[in-house]
Amino acid sequence: MATHFPKGFLWGGATAANQYEGAWQADGKGDSTADHLLGGSVTQPRRFAEDAEQPGYFPAHVASDGYHHTEADIKLMADMGFSVYRLSIAWTRLFPKGDEREPNQAGLDYYRRVFELCRQNGIEPLVTLSHFELPYHLTAAYGGWGDRRLIDFYVHYATTVLREYAGLVRYWITFNEINIGFLLGSYLSLGLPVPDGAVPISTTQTDAALQASLTALHHQLVASAKVVQIAHALDPANQVGCMIAGMVAYPLTAAPADVLLAQRANELNNFYCGDVQVRGHYPAMAKRYWQEHDIQLTVTDADAAVLAAGTVDFYSFSYYSSGTETADADKRELTGNMSVGVKNPYLTYSEWGWSTDPTGLRWYLNTLTSRYELPLMVVENGLGAVDTLTAAGTIEDDYRIAYLREHIQAMSDAIADGVNLIGYTIWGWVDLVSAGTGQMAKRYGVVYVDRDDTGQGTFRRLPKKSYAWYKRVIASNGADLA
Ligand code: BG6
Repeated sequence: MATHFPKGFLWGGATAANQYEGAWQADGKGDSTADHLLGGSVTQPRRFAEDAEQPGYFPAHVASDGYHHTEADIKLMADMGFSVYRLSIAWTRLFPKGDEREPNQAGLDYYRRVFELCRQNGIEPLVTLSHFELPYHLTAAYGGWGDRRLIDFYVHYATTVLREYAGLVRYWITFNEINIGFLLGSYLSLGLPVPDGAVPISTTQTDAALQASLTALHHQLVASAKVVQIAHALDPANQVGCMIAGMVAYPLTAAPADVLLAQRANELNNFYCGDVQVRGHYPAMAKRYWQEHDIQLTVTDADAAVLAAGTVDFYSFSYYSSGTETADADKRELTGNMSVGVKNPYLTYSEWGWSTDPTGLRWYLNTLTSRYELPLMVVENGLGAVDTLTAAGTIEDDYRIAYLREHIQAMSDAIADGVNLIGYTIWGWVDLVSAGTGQMAKRYGVVYVDRDDTGQGTFRRLPKKSYAWYKRVIASNGADLA
């Protein structure tokens, strides 16, 4: 079968330190904001605990025990033919509290080993500097990203990393899903303090909370732009990308009010941050949004200059599902964890309420190309589902294969449309903890990990049926999707 994927297309998978590594106190690591989140479910939201050592189940403390499975996991990726592995660095392995000047050598050594092993196996590391966590001390003592001083702490951490791994890593992402913080997760993404026992992932924000989130987000955007400039100055071969949670919104009907609302949702969800990181300034809609919500944001001349000078080299994003908007307020609902709007009658939904919509991915890829004309990477995509071991000890995850097949086909079609797509990393190539619910039962991997929702299990790795399938896809450069 013909393939539209160009030669050298990057195929691989992704993980995030706090959802994969575990070993939360190993080798001098400090506790991160993620270490303070208890487990939840689709009906029971995750809660925050000030004391991360209190009795209770904290999923990030053990996660998939990736920290102790590094070699074996990289071998599995190499066996599948990965040419790229997207992973994040836990800031707390390098700077346990976040405001130190000297890094923790054991942390530096750990990631050096990871990157060297990747290189030895022909895998390009794609490194996220901050994926839904920061040193907890920066939240407790400074109030998280609400404090401008975090810009300097982050820049110091990032510069240390860029210097340390010069030549080993070329592709960088400054912040995971930078747009999530003000939309859903002010603690998760921005490290803003929440009361003990509170639910840190929420879809409703008061104007006061928005003021705090958008201020903190502004600090992240400035920090990101500074790091882009430093990365380029240190080595012109460094490629730095933004990473946006791709939240495509459709109008429920052709009623102009619905169409306008969907346009506004796309602007707010995707372009508020994307425009700053790609074009170097806030779009007009951001200013309108601040007025509507009575937000006072201080963008100094110096900030504006930094944003303008630190624009990214590529645009990366996650894509799982699309949302649907209606102007009829009575119809709006929470359709699943982390998604609001209304159900789309043309789509099917997972057990967690997420729609399956490969055409939305093609739409988004085309929209981004028209808007930014930058190389694109899909750095998260996958199906969170319950997997069951058969009596023969296998996992026949045909539903996951079907999901991935349709999305890879959509990417191929988008490339034929003229999109410059350079890479694809499936989310959670190995089972890991869900960010939204803290569950292990919401599995994304093509490799199963033996552990349950209380942290029990052997952590044994078991390739699923989708493993061999994805291996064939990669070997054929996307031609063999059967
Ligand atoms: C993205 C995040 O929001 O979606 C990941 O970058 C997350 O960290 C993924 O795991 C899937 O969401 P969830 O809630 O199913 O883990």
